[in-house]
Amino acid sequence: MKEKIFIFDTTLRDGEQSPGCSMDAKEKLEIAHQLARLGVDIIEAGFPISSPGDFEAVKKIAETVGREKKGTEFPQICGLSRAIKNDIDVCWNAVKGAKNGRIHTFLATSDIHMKYKLKMTRTQVLERAYEMVKHARKYTDNVEFSPEDAVRSDLDFLVQVVTAVIDAGATTVNIPDTVGYAIPLEFGELIKNLFERVPNIKKTVLSVHCHNDLGLSVSNSLSAVLNGARQIECTINGLGERAGNASLEEIVMILKTRSNIFNVETNINTSEIHRTSRLVSQVTGMVVQPNKAVVGANAFAHSSGIHQDGMIKHRDTYEIMNPEDVGIEESTLLLTARSGRNGLNNRLKHLGFELSSKEMDLLFEKFKILADKKKYVFDDDLIALLTEGKAETRESYVLEYLNTSSGTGTIPTATVRLRMGDKIFQEAACGDGPVDASYKAIDKITGKSVKLEDYSLRAISSGKDALGEVTVRLDQAGQKMIGRGTSTDIIEASAKAYLSAVNRLLSSKKTTFQKKSQEQL
Ligand code: KIV
Ligand code: ZN
Repeated sequence: MKEKIFIFDTTLRDGEQSPGCSMDAKEKLEIAHQLARLGVDIIEAGFPISSPGDFEAVKKIAETVGREKKGTEFPQICGLSRAIKNDIDVCWNAVKGAKNGRIHTFLATSDIHMKYKLKMTRTQVLERAYEMVKHARKYTDNVEFSPEDAVRSDLDFLVQVVTAVIDAGATTVNIPDTVGYAIPLEFGELIKNLFERVPNIKKTVLSVHCHNDLGLSVSNSLSAVLNGARQIECTINGLGERAGNASLEEIVMILKTRSNIFNVETNINTSEIHRTSRLVSQVTGMVVQPNKAVVGANAFAHSSGIHQDGMIKHRDTYEIMNPEDVGIEESTLLLTARSGRNGLNNRLKHLGFELSSKEMDLLFEKFKILADKKKYVFDDDLIALLTEGKAETRESYVLEYLNTSSGTGTIPTATVRLRMGDKIFQEAACGDGPVDASYKAIDKITGKSVKLEDYSLRAISSGKDALGEVTVRLDQAGQKMIGRGTSTDIIEASAKAYLSAVNRLLSSKKTTFQKKSQEQL
């Protein structure tokens, strides 16, 4: 039987301490519900004494999240408190509505923190830690204690404090690497030492909480697991104070993928990982770096021709995890100048096109020329290549003039002039914003009713005159089309992207082009 590792998520507390990541109560509640779906064991919902708003957010989460799941004590809802009576009282008032509320209290034990920050002696710290755990135990038997900056604390003193708080009734003792200073070998040794030297250690769950200042938070947490730790504190997307905390998605997927080494299990429903990561990123505005392990946009994207060929032949050649396992539909084989025929053919098949080998030769040549000019060749680029030659017969709209006005207290309006051949069309419309207004004006001209399914904007150069690239996906009666537009003016880039997708929809209707046809080239 595999031993269980408790996943303690602190996205809503330590994660929220990331600069610029503060969340309001509604946002915290939305994330807490998703964390419950993800299957975390403990949600650290906030620091109730820190503000009335945070108190209310923690209280609401405690009273609502996880309540629908009958017959289980999870997820437990936890609040943080300093080792001060009033903090603990307030914390309990915030979490007591939960099925199983936890009080997490902390006090620094390193000489540097005790001398300069707390201005307390070792004896005072030892006594306070003991007393405050006792105080918390009056409310609940679910009490966690953290000796802050444990990694830089004197080991003998740390052993004394940990022994004392367990005696006082701490059911979880968390060892934080508050400043991300440890290296895996050393941190594993520290955990091993605590197991060897703390006489009552078996009465508690030993937890770890690692910061990422040297990029080692995940490695340190896992080294602790190998040495007996059974709770890991972590955050979605690795958010947290300064360089962040250990990332939940990495920890969980390492334990799963390398279960031959760790031989432990978690309660996490890994197929909710991607959705949770996206939600946290959207709410906090913290973009996930594309090459981030497990949840980055490139985590399951293959670009080199050799890799794509391997993937098509056997997925395990270049993937150690199934994208579906983390909630991503499928791997992406990005078409770039380095892609080979096999990669291209695979994408075409996926889009529903089957080409003869002569047609494929011709297309591959055109593809390479285009790929040399562009970073990525997208599906709509391929469709454009396939329909090339018919372009002269196509009629398309060209943006001639765009004027928008918007602002506080102003109804956003847009005037759009389009040209098709020698004909000029002009319309004006109001909308929810200048982009929406210009899309409505374009719709009036084309007379088409299309649904905007997706809109994204990114900067493709830096500085004040950065170029913005807008990508849209439109749906017209089930037919989907992507359009892209660039400009230093994001409204113009938006209109160009929309028009490019509309033109493609129109041309794909006008040509007799049919998928799976053998006569396209
Ligand atoms: O990093 C830290 O030491 C903390 C404690 C409050 C656990 O966040
Ligand atoms: Zn922390």
